[in-house]
Amino acid sequence: MKKVFTKDLKVGDKVLKFDRPWLETGFIKHKFVIKNQATISKIAENDIEYVYIEAVSDEQKKVEKVFSGDTKELIEEIQENLPDNHINIEDFNSANDIYKESIKIVRGVLDDVRAGKMFNSGAIKNVAENVAELTMRNKGVLCSVTKLKQHDDYTFQHSMNVSVYAASLASHLGMDATEVQRIANAGILHDVGKMLVPSEILNKPGKFTDDEFAIMKNHVQFGYDFLKKQGLPSDMLRLAYEHHERFDGSGYPRGLKDNEISIEGKIGAVVDIYDAITSYRVYHKGMEPPSALKLMFKWADSHINKKVFEFFIMNIGIYPVGSLVLMNTNELAVIGKANINKPTEPVVLIFTNKAGDKLPVKSVDLSKNTVNERKIIGPVNPEKIEIPDEIYKYIDGLNKIS
Ligand SMILES: [Fe+2]
Repeated sequence: MKKVFTKDLKVGDKVLKFDRPWLETGFIKHKFVIKNQATISKIAENDIEYVYIEAVSDEQKKVEKVFSGDTKELIEEIQENLPDNHINIEDFNSANDIYKESIKIVRGVLDDVRAGKMFNSGAIKNVAENVAELTMRNKGVLCSVTKLKQHDDYTFQHSMNVSVYAASLASHLGMDATEVQRIANAGILHDVGKMLVPSEILNKPGKFTDDEFAIMKNHVQFGYDFLKKQGLPSDMLRLAYEHHERFDGSGYPRGLKDNEISIEGKIGAVVDIYDAITSYRVYHKGMEPPSALKLMFKWADSHINKKVFEFFIMNIGIYPVGSLVLMNTNELAVIGKANINKPTEPVVLIFTNKAGDKLPVKSVDLSKNTVNERKIIGPVNPEKIEIPDEIYKYIDGLNKIS
């Protein structure tokens, strides 16, 4: 709580207490957020000299900065803190185990919801705790794990991926461990309403008819009502309720515009779209990250909030560490280390020759290209290509903090 003179109040401040007992003031609510200048004038007209407002944490200030348009400083700060993005092989392996185990737990809880059984919020909370803990320790690691597509049932893996990406993005936006955990928790549950949609529609391969789409859209309201009934707090409900709202108001269920969508909703929209278009489905193979990001760029400030999206790219990288790419020399390589300043020039680990024969792994920093200008042509679907295990040791070595 912070004491502030009435003349220094700003729109957005949360008033917690006046300089006198609340009943002696002309206000109905004694705790409220100042939404406009008129409220500040009303406080002054009531001869209230000072009030107590909620002290804003550094994390909140950072998030506010993102939305006030001043991202330059923040981006610099993120770049300075880049070692946080390293992938450590031990973390990578344990993250992979945790990820797989978590999907099983999420599947169990969501199946129970469909069957009308008791909702195990404790199990989801444990998964969210793991996601947040790994994310705070090593921002990139879980995001890389999601790249190892496991073709599990889409809904469960998608729930987990949304949680992982949302947690990572939230921590990049400067939120603290508690907030990151709440976002991770909300991410897992963002599509819980789908469990209340008839499964023949949910699992239909291919496009929905208009009628089916209308039924599918109900998953948002179903999810919100369900989670509310379970007693989840409103900040955790927002991601579920707003992840299909769009910047220009074209989303559903409420058609909210950007300024009406919460930060949780904005994060939810970006990560939900990204995972949906990069995931393998029965009827379409997932887009590779660079194509997905390119497509999403077109939607910035029409469908999704551009600033949140830019933070997401910084967070995930154009070519995420661990992804398989084809070089202009016809060699195959795995991204070994991201280059945030020059995202198209990462360190690559080349493991085949031009003819496609396996060779010992060679590490090439594309930003230091001189003689034989190697370039990345584009991502390659890793399904049919065996990536040598030793690549992961290289990734570990490249990303170690010295
Ligand atoms: Fe959804």
